[in-house]
Amino acid sequence: MKLFIRKPMNVLMYEAQESGSHTLKRTLGSGALVALGVGAIIGAGLFSLTGIAAAENAGPAVTLSFILAAVGCAFAGLCYAEFASMIPVAGSAYTYSYATMGEFIAWIIGWDLVLEYAVGAATVAVSWSRYLLELLASFNIHLPKALVSSPWETVSLSDGTIYTGGILNLPAIVIILILSAILIRGTQESSRINNVLVVLKILVVLMFILLGWSHIDPANYDPYIPANTGKFENFGFTGIATGAAVVFFAFIGFDAVSTAAQEAKNPKKGMPIGILGSLVICTILYVLFAHVMTGLLNYKEFAGDAKPAATAFAETGYDFLQTGLIIAILAGYTSVMLVMLLGQSRVFYSMSKDGLLPKFFGQIHSKFRTPFKTNMFFMVFVSIFAGFVPISDLGHMVSIGTLFAFVLVCLGVMIMRKKMPDLPRAFKTPWVPFVPVMGIVVCIYLMYALPIESWFRLAIWLAIGIAIYFFYGKNNSKLRNPGKYPPHDRHEIPEDIPPLI
Ligand code: ALA
Repeated sequence: MKLFIRKPMNVLMYEAQESGSHTLKRTLGSGALVALGVGAIIGAGLFSLTGIAAAENAGPAVTLSFILAAVGCAFAGLCYAEFASMIPVAGSAYTYSYATMGEFIAWIIGWDLVLEYAVGAATVAVSWSRYLLELLASFNIHLPKALVSSPWETVSLSDGTIYTGGILNLPAIVIILILSAILIRGTQESSRINNVLVVLKILVVLMFILLGWSHIDPANYDPYIPANTGKFENFGFTGIATGAAVVFFAFIGFDAVSTAAQEAKNPKKGMPIGILGSLVICTILYVLFAHVMTGLLNYKEFAGDAKPAATAFAETGYDFLQTGLIIAILAGYTSVMLVMLLGQSRVFYSMSKDGLLPKFFGQIHSKFRTPFKTNMFFMVFVSIFAGFVPISDLGHMVSIGTLFAFVLVCLGVMIMRKKMPDLPRAFKTPWVPFVPVMGIVVCIYLMYALPIESWFRLAIWLAIGIAIYFFYGKNNSKLRNPGKYPPHDRHEIPEDIPPLI
């Protein structure tokens, strides 16, 4: 059936080998790829959700929530690593599903990834803006209230200032504009800036852990797993599991490494290292961070606190470091947005290359060699979200969209093992089908633990996407409509390219 037409593997491989001024540039080594992963991972999730998950779901055992979420991500990460080392083409889960489950599913995944990357960047931008207002307030600078939040939000700062009646969130818009401009300038430049931000971010996490450790009050760990209150999500073992769904947001991003496969110097080696390396580093840091945070203050104190990291750190008495902490957190958020925006543009670039989206999204800047028009499109799209939409529960949409993509990647690995068992894989997911099946089980469980509204929003978003596919993608897909494209622009392989296997 044409709806499920699959992109032939040798076409993908051919695209991956292509080079020239109309393609992306291979500039990223393994270290830069790990930094890209860490860049996308550590951010709003760690610095603001850890407190909420501790106060409402897991108590000090939020460390176990982190471990549970990490296990789920590790299953999916192992599957991503196999795909990324086998199909080193930009586009990530979208591209993998095109090769395994066919065009329609690939379109759904590509469309779904907008929730992860574009809406994710907008969510973090709003959180970034809050921390910026805190920082400015500590220097007694207050921006006009019309410019600090969307009309449907109230912002309260720790100095007692309350902003209501805003018109737009200007700081969130400005940071998105700046980052989009950096991305248009070039991936290598963006990667360099990302590396600096990542170092700063890791330093602040280490500083928090090391300086906080000696101020831990063991009484705060008693009880380590508070008794369940009778409600599924409030404490006990079920609370730990719900906490895992909440802190899952903190892990989102390791898969963004795979969107940059076409810009990796040696993708077969670099992709698994980038994906799994960043996941391992972040898991260790998260567990230690959460341990120190809940040791510094009783978990109940974090209820309703939008910046629990700063609140907990105040317990150490190192007041002079508070400003540094906020600056480093701002830097950390910045790199999350940078990598998310990068990932988003690469997914749309790939979809456009396949004819599923207009050519506009696939055009490469002749000098900077980046998909600049896509970058500009998302600069506007994400700015609108970040500037005008109340983002409080969009975080859940980001999580559900990401989990859905993970499920399909796990499924894809199993399908690929059956359909193309002999295709060379630089990295092989261990224990197939156990690992992908467990990945699917854990991800579906985490989806189930999210509020029902996020399911409705996901359904509406997908319905819009499906309508666009039947209106545009189906009629312009290069695989389905080769006659519509000139010979050099079809998904066909020149005759001198040897068969794949
Ligand atoms: N993992 C990213 C964050 O926590 C999305 O900000």
